[in-house]
Amino acid sequence: MRRMYFLSFLLVASIFACSDNELSTAAEPKLVLPDLPYAYNQLDLPAGARIAGNMNNNFELINGELVPVNTSLDITPWGATLGRVLFYDTKLSLNNTVACATCHHQDKAFADGKQFSTGFEGKITTRNSMAIINPISQNNLFWDSRSKTLHDLSLQPVQNHIEMGMENLDRLVAKLEATDYYADLFNKAYGSPEITSEKVAKSISQFVGSITSNRSRFDAGQNNGFSNFNELETLGMKIFNGKGQCSTCHGGSNMAAQDGPGDPYGGSMNGSDDLQGATNIGLELVYKDNGLENGKFRIPSLRNIELTGPYMHDGRFKSLEEVINHYSEGIKPHKDLDVKFKDNNGKVKLLNLTSIEKKALEAFLKTLTDKEMTQNPKWSNPFQS
Ligand code: HEC
Ligand code: HEC
Repeated sequence: MRRMYFLSFLLVASIFACSDNELSTAAEPKLVLPDLPYAYNQLDLPAGARIAGNMNNNFELINGELVPVNTSLDITPWGATLGRVLFYDTKLSLNNTVACATCHHQDKAFADGKQFSTGFEGKITTRNSMAIINPISQNNLFWDSRSKTLHDLSLQPVQNHIEMGMENLDRLVAKLEATDYYADLFNKAYGSPEITSEKVAKSISQFVGSITSNRSRFDAGQNNGFSNFNELETLGMKIFNGKGQCSTCHGGSNMAAQDGPGDPYGGSMNGSDDLQGATNIGLELVYKDNGLENGKFRIPSLRNIELTGPYMHDGRFKSLEEVINHYSEGIKPHKDLDVKFKDNNGKVKLLNLTSIEKKALEAFLKTLTDKEMTQNPKWSNPFQS
């Protein structure tokens, strides 16, 4: 069975390790935390969501790689608080210039509004920064679903995540040890001020895993028979679930690939292959970036989609209108195009939506916005300048 382990973040975190050449120590922003931690352990998951795999791993550093050893730790309020600080702290990066939050902005559901993002030393990512929405319920992570099993994780560090190689974790630990606020935070989270890369990793995982969304108008509608929807939104939902087939891919509680075992894109159903939550939607005849393989990319969550543009793995579409136009009249006959976009003769089946249907679909997509998530102080930047 495929499982998502949250270690990806660790590896990401470890990427930030190292710093010999700190450039500036100008006016440091002040860390401001509440006296009592937020209840990160209370997850606001959508109705019906399940926790994928088991994110609550303990890690050990084996041959320079973080390897999960056993699975017993929960998200704790102080553990995730520490993760929050690390997520926003540029000290994790070489040169103190980049934090996770540089490319993952809370007000954009943790995407960054750019086609590509700038990482270390001006290096540009090759893919569009992803929103972070209920990742704890996903089996596959990243545009190419490359993070899912422990094995994959240890073999393939997240190289194209931020355009830099893995660095020495010991150096990150030394740097955090030299930073005044960390000893107290590690003590609160783990009962000892000792700083280790495993704890760094675990804390970031806890924080990222706590980022959950279930307060959109769509969620509210599920409890009131969608009486909160206007006519346009109701029509849009009908197209989404019917003629548009959108929900057959962006389905389930997270409006994403149903990528657990037994689900169409998760595989192992009737002996079928695991599609790893990814497919080809005919963006190109020949892809420059082939994703998982043959132009297949992860079916992303559509929650908060209004806030996470530009869209697709390469940020090619600036607006939801452009995305809808693609499904309506732009799908290209790639040889690996998902069968759902083909007719019986193997020809591309376009949706050919009317302009009112397009508007309706867009209106429905906007009901997935959850401002509570994008404004909740528990996921906000704790550093004040
Ligand atoms: C320079 C920009 C940049 C930085 C810094 C960055 N990310 Fe990302 N993040 C991205 C991009 C781009 C992707 C998509 C990469 C891909 O699929 O290959 C991504 C994907 C992710 C995902 C996958 C979401 C999903 O649903 O699959 C998570 C989680 C994530 N990042 C967390 C983090 C954390 C934690 C940190 C800090 C340790 C971090 N990121 C730092 C740009 C960045
Ligand atoms: C066969 C599966 C499938 C169907 C059906 C499908 N999608 Fe997608 N969708 C995907 C995949 C895969 C991607 C990512 C493709 C990429 O980046 O290369 C995606 C991306 C998107 C994105 C951009 C997400 C982001 O974060 O950038 C939006 C918006 C979207 N789809 C909306 C829809 C709508 C609306 C419909 C119905 C008209 C629909 N999709 C039907 C598989 C599907």
